[in-house]
Amino acid sequence: MASFALGQRSYGEVYEQIYRQHPELRYVGFYRLFNEPAILVRDQRLVREVLVGNSFLHCADNAVNVDAQRDVLATCNPFIASGDRWRILRADLVPLFTPSRLRQTLPHVAAACQQLQEFVARRLTGERFEAKALATRYTLQVIASAVFGLDAHCLCLSDEDQEEGSQWLQRLLPLFQPSAWSLPETIALLHSSRLANILQHRYVPLSLQDWLCDLVRARSGANNFLHWLGDKQGEQGDLAGHATTLLLEGYETSAMLLAFALYELSRNESAQRRVQTELEEVAQRHGGLLMGHAALAELRYAEAALLETLRLHPAMQALQKRCTKSFTLPPQRSDTDTAVGSHGSIQVALGTVLVVPVQAIHMDPNLYSDPLKFQPERFMNTSPMGCRFLGFGAGPRMCPGMRLGLAQTKAALVTLLRDYSFSLADQAQDPFQVSPLTFLTASKHGIWLQLQKR
Ligand code: HEM
Repeated sequence: MASFALGQRSYGEVYEQIYRQHPELRYVGFYRLFNEPAILVRDQRLVREVLVGNSFLHCADNAVNVDAQRDVLATCNPFIASGDRWRILRADLVPLFTPSRLRQTLPHVAAACQQLQEFVARRLTGERFEAKALATRYTLQVIASAVFGLDAHCLCLSDEDQEEGSQWLQRLLPLFQPSAWSLPETIALLHSSRLANILQHRYVPLSLQDWLCDLVRARSGANNFLHWLGDKQGEQGDLAGHATTLLLEGYETSAMLLAFALYELSRNESAQRRVQTELEEVAQRHGGLLMGHAALAELRYAEAALLETLRLHPAMQALQKRCTKSFTLPPQRSDTDTAVGSHGSIQVALGTVLVVPVQAIHMDPNLYSDPLKFQPERFMNTSPMGCRFLGFGAGPRMCPGMRLGLAQTKAALVTLLRDYSFSLADQAQDPFQVSPLTFLTASKHGIWLQLQKR
């Protein structure tokens, strides 16, 4: 792990190496940073057991270091919360993502797509552009509207509105990006509460906290998440916490997925053409419109392309769970009996971190043939769920915003590919380089693309 601490390799790469070095083992014991013993789970049945099965109850908490006093808004995030508090917070949010709520959220997505189309037509044609920055403008526009009922002005064209939009961009664009501070902050978050205290690390930076509370007060309209939550929630504090979760979880992961999808489709022309052919066929069946629920659902190849993108570029390169009640793992070698209690079983000690190495699993040639190749067809006729695909996690902690994340990303992807074809602005970006400095996957040097009017 020293290479991770020195900023030479991402944590996903380190875990992938451990995973590959021990093909005969169901799990591998190793030391995380600061000599902390941990277990990397390799075997698919055990991964399922930890994330979904009986053992989930013994390791339901994510292994993250967030200080409850320093980071009040972050402690309302189910990803960070533990035990019963996690259950309560998650139960508050899950009703926002039912199919009927998703339908009610689509007008926010459609409006942002319209603005994206105009923004690209006026601002980008013919130029090289950085795809992640464009994607973040779009997802912030959707999430500001869907969560708060506010216009973030991130895709506007007039100078006055741009100033307003720059508030959102200035505050949120850099948040998950590689920087001089992102590595120590990632180490503090994932590995050391002591370092978190020394750095006074906050998952939600202090500079955002008052601004987020102001946004909650400024919320408007009826068809948005805060309105739906507000019906049930009396306390402003909880509402600000939930708003923070929805905003921070809602924009970055989808922006990343959109940018990576454009990157993969730029490198794979035939897949790009297939998305374009599909969207034209679907648009024809729906009177030229793609933003309705039925039309979006019919874009099956586009969705498969997004899932395949997430396989190659998972937002979280590993899931890290903490053992909250000691339990037994079967023998380590996969050629011995799986029955718990047989010779060689081990007892997982309280507090041990169990690592589920998402990136390594997604790249395992025993689970995906030709794993480096971008092949959306893999997800056309088979359900991606189960523990071979962990782009959204799995089990009771699985991402509740998955459908919204996919819908908003797919809507933007087809909006862009309807009018333009994309290519890499610079071949040196192939193969792709992951930043070793961040918790959420980011590109080391940005994603530079070119577009051409179709
Ligand atoms: C393409 C977009 C997205 C991706 C790739 C993604 C991915 C993930 C992943 C990997 C997890 C961790 C799952 C685990 O611990 O097992 C997660 C959790 C979570 N996500 Fe997402 N997410 C996306 C979009 C969203 C959206 C749009 C929202 C809400 C607006 C959201 C809200 C959450 C929340 C609240 C959790 C914590 C769940 C819990 O611990 O119970 N996500 N997401």
